[in-house]
Amino acid sequence: MNILEMKDITKAFPGIVANDRVSLTLEKGEVLALIGENGAGKSTLMKILSGAQRPDSGTIVIDGQTLTGYNTREAIDLGIGIVYQELNYLGALSIAENLYIGRIPVKGRLKKIDYPTLFAKAKEIMQELGLGHLDPATPVEQLSTAEKQLVEIARAFTREVKILVLDEPTSALSDTETEDLFKLIRSFKQRGVSIIYISHRLNEIFEVADSVMIMRDGKNVARRRIADTCTDELVRDMVGREIKDMYPKRQDIAIGKEVFRVKNLRTNFLKDVSFDVREGEVVGLFGLMGSGRTEIANCIMAVRKYDSAEMTVDGAAYAPKKPHDALDNGIAYVPPERKSDGITAVLSVKDNITIANLRKFAPKGIMNLKQEMALARDWVEKLNIKVPQILAPVETLSGGNQQKVVVAKELNTEPKVMILNEPTRGVDVGAKVEIYNLINDLCDSRKAVLMISSELPEIMAMADRIFVLHEGRITAEVPKSEFSQETLLKYAIGG
Ligand SMILES: Nc1ncnc2c1ncn2[C@@H]1O[C@H](COP(=O)(O)OP(=O)(O)OP(=O)(O)O)[C@@H](O)[C@H]1O
Ligand SMILES: [Mg+2]
Repeated sequence: MNILEMKDITKAFPGIVANDRVSLTLEKGEVLALIGENGAGKSTLMKILSGAQRPDSGTIVIDGQTLTGYNTREAIDLGIGIVYQELNYLGALSIAENLYIGRIPVKGRLKKIDYPTLFAKAKEIMQELGLGHLDPATPVEQLSTAEKQLVEIARAFTREVKILVLDEPTSALSDTETEDLFKLIRSFKQRGVSIIYISHRLNEIFEVADSVMIMRDGKNVARRRIADTCTDELVRDMVGREIKDMYPKRQDIAIGKEVFRVKNLRTNFLKDVSFDVREGEVVGLFGLMGSGRTEIANCIMAVRKYDSAEMTVDGAAYAPKKPHDALDNGIAYVPPERKSDGITAVLSVKDNITIANLRKFAPKGIMNLKQEMALARDWVEKLNIKVPQILAPVETLSGGNQQKVVVAKELNTEPKVMILNEPTRGVDVGAKVEIYNLINDLCDSRKAVLMISSELPEIMAMADRIFVLHEGRITAEVPKSEFSQETLLKYAIGG
């Protein structure tokens, strides 16, 4: 029996039909993967299911009941749980409070918050998702992006639900954390919960899903059983063509002199971190959650204080005091959390792309608006950013397209050193190739690239050398000839 039937759902936004008569069915206990290119309409369809958005037309029947209100209350009452693509946490509140928000256990006549119960319940689910090492009282804003993502996921699992929607839950997770999530998904499936799973990582879909629905340009194009399909077929369904080389690393680029060096970087967590990046080179920084990858980037970008370090750019000392010093010294950074650090949600796509380097358009202090617009358009075209209108607020873009805006914004600063932290987060298979090609272009124009990524296939394909980090310490410098998943993981767990 179908637990869910969405029929002929249509939803239009100014300039774009996000869902065009989409139908979706889901069986009890089924794990259905929902895939499609950035902007295909996946999140919109799920927001309609969760009551966050109202469809223009169509019907939704959940467990025999037809939806009438299209609001979040109704959806929750009917057993819909959702983890949205963009993180939604209350940073100042603790992990436990974020998990049980709206349902905090209370005791006594005065209804005081029952912290022991709250923390105990929180700890249980945290353990299952690999967050057991954390104190439930920790404010969420102190967590890494991956940990925040796990908190969001954990929240969905604390609720009694019939249908659980996970919109790109693993985009900031590494393989180990993803495995924990899959265990939890399987145990929920066993209890009869149905799951809709959105991801751009196709290998995950083959591991966790029973079936897959593919969307393209707002329409559903196919529904297949996982057992009867393969990656190539799904890629063709999604992008309408074949992608021959998922990781088009250029091998012909000569590696030149040193551009960027970090020596003995120390914080209370980082222990004498040293590495260097040369002209035309991509250096990978790999480590598990909490290993300190982002902390290194934050020190370089001066958003975090460090105790000591000797850093150089092109041989000249680099000792940043404030974030702008990084820009002035030719260092650009694509951060892992686009919503809080990467984009300015209400500004237009154009403004977001050009904002970090406005001086470029105002050589004599007077803005050349035409030039600015032309350049923004160039980037939209180059990265194939799906946007009805370049002046639309960036928050109206799909997640993957927002990510492309962040990448364009940083590339536009024409840096000497480009630091990319999970650059292809939430980006579809086709657009990933575009970003890898841009990385090739950076190398070709003698830039130095530092790439932080938890996707092993990506970092192994694109990097020329990889430094592995474990608990704030570099445990290995691995040359390309020795790249293998086993080697990298071994050093990442401290071996
Ligand atoms: N609130 C909104 N206002 C205007 N346009 C919107 C809004 N929400 C979504 N859209 C547009 O609808 C289309 C579908 O977006 P959606 O977020 O559903 O894509 P998606 O399949 O989830 O993509 P991704 O893989 O990048 O997350 C996009 O073109 C997007 O710009
Ligand atoms: Mg989406």
